[in-house]
Amino acid sequence: MNVLTRRLLPLLLAIAPLPALAQQPPAPPALAWKTGAEARAIERRIDALLARMTTAEKIGQLNLRGRGDDFRPEWIAQGRTGAVMNFTEPTEIAAVRAQVARSRLQIPLILGLDAINGFATYFPQPIGQAATFNPRLVELASYWSAREARATGINWTFAPMIDMTRDARWGRNMEGAGEDVHLASVVAAARVAGYHRGGLATSAKHFIGYGAAEGGRDYNSVWIPVSELWDYQMPAFRAAIAAGTFTVMTSLSAMNGIAATGDRTLVTDILKGRLGFRGFVVSDFDSVRELINHGMAADRAEAARKAFLAGVDMDMMSGAYDAHLADEIRAGRVPAAALDEAVRRVLRVKFHMGLFEEPPFDPTTAARDMATPAARADSLAVARESIVMLRNREAILPLRPSVRSIAVVGGAATHQEDWQYSDNAGLPRVRPPKLPDELSRLLGPDVAISFAPGLATHCNLAAGDTAGAVRTAEAADVVVVMLGEDCEQIGEGTSRAHLDLPPVQQTLLDALIATGKPVVVILHTTRPFVLTRFADRVAAILQAFHLGTEGRTALAEVMTGRTNPSGKLPMTFPRATGQVPIYYDALPTGRPRLTNARYETGYTDEKLEPLYPFGFGLSFSRFTFDALTLDAPRVARNGTVSGSVRVSNVSGPAGKEVVQVYVRQMVGSRSRPVRQLRFFEKVEVGAGGHATVRFAIPVRSLGFHDDQARYRVEPGAYEIYVGNDSNATLTARFTVR
Ligand code: BGC
Repeated sequence: MNVLTRRLLPLLLAIAPLPALAQQPPAPPALAWKTGAEARAIERRIDALLARMTTAEKIGQLNLRGRGDDFRPEWIAQGRTGAVMNFTEPTEIAAVRAQVARSRLQIPLILGLDAINGFATYFPQPIGQAATFNPRLVELASYWSAREARATGINWTFAPMIDMTRDARWGRNMEGAGEDVHLASVVAAARVAGYHRGGLATSAKHFIGYGAAEGGRDYNSVWIPVSELWDYQMPAFRAAIAAGTFTVMTSLSAMNGIAATGDRTLVTDILKGRLGFRGFVVSDFDSVRELINHGMAADRAEAARKAFLAGVDMDMMSGAYDAHLADEIRAGRVPAAALDEAVRRVLRVKFHMGLFEEPPFDPTTAARDMATPAARADSLAVARESIVMLRNREAILPLRPSVRSIAVVGGAATHQEDWQYSDNAGLPRVRPPKLPDELSRLLGPDVAISFAPGLATHCNLAAGDTAGAVRTAEAADVVVVMLGEDCEQIGEGTSRAHLDLPPVQQTLLDALIATGKPVVVILHTTRPFVLTRFADRVAAILQAFHLGTEGRTALAEVMTGRTNPSGKLPMTFPRATGQVPIYYDALPTGRPRLTNARYETGYTDEKLEPLYPFGFGLSFSRFTFDALTLDAPRVARNGTVSGSVRVSNVSGPAGKEVVQVYVRQMVGSRSRPVRQLRFFEKVEVGAGGHATVRFAIPVRSLGFHDDQARYRVEPGAYEIYVGNDSNATLTARFTVR
């Protein structure tokens, strides 16, 4: 960091709210694949460039290195590295970029980072973005993450993670969009679009099946039948490719016994072939070398050969391509044409991104693009709609004017660091406001707000002064307690065997409940937890997947009624960890649960149903649905099922509701899910008002793949269910001819 940046950034970033910043630089041009003559001209430029490159320079384009390994900047000048990662300081990035000018061919660098849900301004974690059920807001979150990262000289993000996930034990739930394939596809497209608009190329990841790790154990094997691969795992990737993702990252895991990074069928035949992906494929961190650990290669040379021949174009951080590809080519084990093809893909991305035409990077302007008022306003907008209200007994929320004192408990409520992807540590960022301060600000001086940490730290892992928290609670009209996951409990490598609140948190909560005061629980978690032990003993539950910089403001707004909550669960919340995996779009069984009899699907020691279904979330308003009509009861296979439904706000303030349309194929050549989300739309309905929502679902989207991966849409009866969660009961029928 230069002197100016070092002095300016803390000043600009530590103050909340920020002063209006003069001269925010103009947004970078949005990224998009060029088409037609422009695309053809690029292929000719690639031909010309390839003709000038030595084998070493070509291999250099496939070598992604970065901070944290033995990387040396002169590798760029030597043409030995075409991509770098994990640099975050503008001046350091400028220095790295400057090496390009010293290289023989001056091929621009691609600079990657896990810019996941923000950079200086933080947004809700991706699962929380999905909970908005509002693609416009999802796009905004990615846009700002890109725009801020881009200002520091980065041009590529390792996002969006679009792994499907039905298992809350897996720690990376929070990077994805949850369990539903339609929601995940919509979110994937919105995230790619947002990143591109903000100037970062995307890397859709992890191809494929990473989120299906057995037992929820990160990196574990996955077993995915062909039909499920195509119907459940593939659609979000198709959506990301259709939205123009420039790169795709392979998974660290092995699917059906073959590590993804060495799977030619997956990477070459399916991704580049059948899905028509034109960009480049990057391995995950060290996953080329990890082929040795998977037992698929004896040494790094074989690992390099296998990954490369599988179709993995770029090697992230293992150094195996750098060390061994040249020998493999010389020995004839790797065809030179394959090298050209991989390099072509990398250069194609660089040309389509416009990197060859880019003006020199100026690190001194970076600060002006960080945490601007516009970014923070949008972060608040996303956070507001991300909060899912799971319970609100006797309408305790919004807090009534008769409430004169509130006890806030939990270090998470005052901790002033946003969770961020570990690699971004040390970056300048805004200090998020504290929850007690935000409640005070919104409620004014007549309501007393007190605070007790309750637990030892915001990490929520060690007991603290429980007695002090109880005393604080006893002196207040209402208790607001913020519990959940933080520190080393979030993201990669954080699988859980227990989804209940950790004992220290449950003990604190029990003590607070025992005061007899109404307790509002805020769950600052990153995945579905099991809430069964306390859900019916507390007054309200607000599910807040880490909400980002403006999260406490959004929470205070909900509690005081300034914001009517409208978030919905993107994952099913189980009643017990033993129910996992649990998801709404399951296949029926031959013995469905109808009468609670023994030989029906279920458990002897727990209900079959989850605690909260997918798509669920309360509002201060009560919405009803009626007047479901279909335009036609019979539709052709190439037609569209269209119709409308009326949603009414029958009590409470103006609010937003998510109209969810589920479809079931009643009888098929194979068993079909009991229902699947096919359409959703969030609508705003005034107090006492109505809205008519039209929906249109292409019949071709209602099909499925058979075990030979052939897609089919079958004629026959289908049923539609409309409502505001996956238990929706308003139905209509149609027939596909
Ligand atoms: C993760 C990727 C991430 C990469 C680089 C890996 O461990 O699986 O998702 O992009 O690290 O940080």
